[in-house]
Amino acid sequence: MKQSSLVAAAVLLSHSSRSAAFSPPSAFLHSLRTASKSLHEHPVAASNGIQHEPSLNPLLSQIKPSKTVEIFSLVKQMEADGQTVTSLCVGEPDFKPPLSVLQAASDAMMAGQTTYTAVTGTVELRRGIADDLKRRKGTEYNPLTEIVVGNGAKQCVYQGLLAACGSGDEVIIPAPYWPSYPEMALLVGATPVILETAVQDGYLINPTSLDECLATHPKAKVLMLCNPSNPTGGVHSTQLLQQIAKVLEKYPNVIVIADEIYERLVYTQDDNGSATVTSFASLPNMFQRTITINGFSKSHAMTGFRLGYLAAPSKYAKAASVLQGQITSCASSVSQAAGVAALQVEEEWFDNNVEVMKQKRNYVLGELSKMKNVSVTVPPNGAFYVLPDVSSYYDGDDTQLCLDLLKEKKLALVPGSSFGAAGTVRISYATSMEELEVAMRKLGEFLDGLL
Ligand SMILES: Cc1ncc(COP(=O)(O)O)c(C=O)c1O
Repeated sequence: MKQSSLVAAAVLLSHSSRSAAFSPPSAFLHSLRTASKSLHEHPVAASNGIQHEPSLNPLLSQIKPSKTVEIFSLVKQMEADGQTVTSLCVGEPDFKPPLSVLQAASDAMMAGQTTYTAVTGTVELRRGIADDLKRRKGTEYNPLTEIVVGNGAKQCVYQGLLAACGSGDEVIIPAPYWPSYPEMALLVGATPVILETAVQDGYLINPTSLDECLATHPKAKVLMLCNPSNPTGGVHSTQLLQQIAKVLEKYPNVIVIADEIYERLVYTQDDNGSATVTSFASLPNMFQRTITINGFSKSHAMTGFRLGYLAAPSKYAKAASVLQGQITSCASSVSQAAGVAALQVEEEWFDNNVEVMKQKRNYVLGELSKMKNVSVTVPPNGAFYVLPDVSSYYDGDDTQLCLDLLKEKKLALVPGSSFGAAGTVRISYATSMEELEVAMRKLGEFLDGLL
């Protein structure tokens, strides 16, 4: 049994004390017990005859498993048991990658591009990325020294953090946040500092609050900037980014990890009529202190290709490449060939996806607005998530709400508390319209039943 299923089952069990709680399927429990037994039944006999169990890395006691992964494992388990589940829990576009991308991957395999590449990626891909960033974002990176291609943006975020900070440092993480940020900060030995954002600010960073936070945290080394945001869908305007940059000028030791993985998915225009995301590195004086993260998972629907990149001044790119060289060598050669093709896809393809995604967003917002005691105070402007407030139900216990929703309606959402937004649930609307219709009906019925 996989560790993730174990974790999922453990979470499930930890909630099963409440009367209305979900009881796991018996086959699931059986495999949990078997797996759990096998983890513990082989203690090592020491020379003095006393039996010792090898312990895990103490760091693990600080790290929480991803709740999205837990819920997703439960969904998979229920499906394996023959149940039909509606899942809006995973951040994955439902459209297919462009045909040219699939063709490039297949051609690369058949042409024998099946060996390791340079640690930082093929020169062709890095050149393509540098050209793309220059054309669309106005940032100029040297493809040979300032770009590192990795196995997905997630790995790039981790390597960026590992390169920039360590024990004794603090990482400022605006909440609501992508749950991997605080866990990754802990993994590199740093301390996550949560910077709360306010609903009235659209869950965006308030420059005054940032200033206060940095003034009181002299050990801060990194500010995580997720723009557009997972889980709120909030998009920081150019003007707001400039104000953030102005604050940062007072704190020269702080760098920004700008996670711009959703930058191609924006649905509304800002005050200046722009529907594009300004890259933080393109702001005056910010290039030298920004590690930009981007990739192909969300924009090109290439989640399984595991292809992302980090673009940063050579000091950080070099450090990230040294780390990657020891951890995974390089990204898949086949995925990299697909990435080269992905960078040549016509803008029209993206425009269509944005249009389709916008319709889904509007549909979900419309349906949520009809539900009693549910409010979407901050409608998403980008990415493909919405974070409705459901705190009137279950006394704000969003985890129990999600577990019971899964049990009773077979609808999977992720509890907002795992994103630092207690009392909310995260809905990913990057799925088919049919699935969204079923999901919204199930959610409405479930909440009505609680009134
Ligand atoms: C904010 C954010 N950054 C990074 C990633 C990771 O992307 P990838 O699949 O390329 O590793 C995700 C995926 O959910 C994300 O939401």
